[in-house]
Amino acid sequence: MDPADFYTGIVAELYAPLKSYSQDPEPYAAFIQQVGMPALELGCGDGDPLLELRRRGLDVDGVDSSADMLERLRHRADELGIAATVFHQRMEALDLPRRYRAIFLAGPTFTLLPDDATALAALRGIRAHLAEGGTALVPLFTPAPTPAEQIGRVRTAAAPDGAELRVSVVAEQRDETARTQTSLLRYERHHGSAGTIEERPWIMHWYTREQFEELAAVVGLTVTAVTDADGKPAPADVTDVLHFWLQST
Ligand SMILES: C[S@@+](CC[C@H](N)C(=O)[O-])C[C@H]1O[C@@H](n2cnc3c(N)ncnc32)[C@H](O)[C@@H]1O
Repeated sequence: MDPADFYTGIVAELYAPLKSYSQDPEPYAAFIQQVGMPALELGCGDGDPLLELRRRGLDVDGVDSSADMLERLRHRADELGIAATVFHQRMEALDLPRRYRAIFLAGPTFTLLPDDATALAALRGIRAHLAEGGTALVPLFTPAPTPAEQIGRVRTAAAPDGAELRVSVVAEQRDETARTQTSLLRYERHHGSAGTIEERPWIMHWYTREQFEELAAVVGLTVTAVTDADGKPAPADVTDVLHFWLQST
């Protein structure tokens, strides 16, 4: 399976009920207020935080590679009475009719791009879609290995129809040279005697600050700041999510 298609089918269905937390919209609202509109969220999924930003009246479009996640977003938007413009595209093959003052990912979704070549294509697309003087915000982190005692541990949730939903990491491989961690995730849905079980590899690919700055430079983007999620300058030793601010060189 192509990594860009991971959040489809049973994964899209189980995403909302099983997700452990929702992205805080505040850092992204503050980013947009600071650098201007229109704005674009890459990897907007089923609508967090895009729908909250739209509810606040911010001009934000969305892009996601999963038609199933976007269908859920549109359904939520209809229920909330919120108008949202979203595009079914991969961020590494971006081709949109508008240019944006602000382009961002909410949380470290950029690490779902499985290698440097795909990341470069995404950065190239970001640069091409920035309006003059526009800014991009890319949160990044280095994932920790799943602790051994958590391999095989099952998280459960109930679906609206009463089915039991389960997710677990069943195996994991880490490659420090390629900077990838591949977790084999098992998704399960059980309802009475009916059951579906599907296993999918979930790849994360990370960067040092220097490696990311070098990639950005290749496509004509400069890292103008590295901050924590609150927009404060990040100390060099932070292992948490870092926000990279980018502008055209
Ligand atoms: C972890 S989810 C986050 C969704 C949402 N922003 C949230 O916080 O709930 C990551 C999203 O990125 C999307 N995605 C993954 N790879 C992508 C790619 N190459 N291009 C565009 N979207 C991608 C997935 O389909 C998924 O909806």
